[in-house]
Amino acid sequence: MMAQTKMLMGTVVEYKELMMMYACAIKEVRTKFDVLNTEFKIRYQRNPISSISTRLKRTASITDKLERQNFPFSLESIEKNVNDVAGIRVICSYIDDIYTIAEAFLRQDDVTLIAQKDYIAHPKPNGYRSLHLIISIPVFFADRKKDMKVEVQIRTIAMDFWASLEHQLKYKQEIPNQPEIISQLKECAEIINATDEKMLDIRHQIEEIADAPTE
Ligand code: GTP
Ligand code: MG
Repeated sequence: MMAQTKMLMGTVVEYKELMMMYACAIKEVRTKFDVLNTEFKIRYQRNPISSISTRLKRTASITDKLERQNFPFSLESIEKNVNDVAGIRVICSYIDDIYTIAEAFLRQDDVTLIAQKDYIAHPKPNGYRSLHLIISIPVFFADRKKDMKVEVQIRTIAMDFWASLEHQLKYKQEIPNQPEIISQLKECAEIINATDEKMLDIRHQIEEIADAPTE
């Protein structure tokens, strides 16, 4: 019993340490996007990133995910199988900024791309749009360097607005008119996309006027 408790306590300490490492990985990645935003602002007189939010996956969500997919309960298993313990969401104003920022981020030689899902080029059937990257970056600690995985979601303000409303649907068990709501959301996603594309087009037109040589 004592030995068991000791083992469990040891695991708790190691678990806390692992979560601390994920939290540090988030800081590293956040700084990279902050830097890109700052540089872009000087160069093009506007911010491509409108906001950044981060989250560390809750323990209950981590264990749920392991259980759902029949993965073992261990720290190694979390690191190997749960790609979204560390999450960062980068919200851009325009669709082209998403790709500009993503490419500049992925070009950095300490960033390793593990997986990419382009739900903008290929939206989900429900209308969800976003660019997802699973990356790994080295984080330097006092006595070691450790590669940590981070999930990056990059989307426009409008896509984010849509996703937050659609997300609420997942938490409602029984909704009368669910098919109707799903189809309304889908319709909204198309309208939002058309607006995102139109906004980009207008911005391009304005930039052309601004760039035209004056006599
Ligand atoms: P999990 O859903 O986290 O198990 O990952 P996955 O393997 O299905 O990966 P995917 O890249 O498809 O989704 C990762 C995350 O993107 C999710 O956890 C959500 O935060 C977000 N996401 C994906 N699909 C949707 C969607 O249809 N609606 C909303 N609101 N968010 C979504
Ligand atoms: Mg997730």
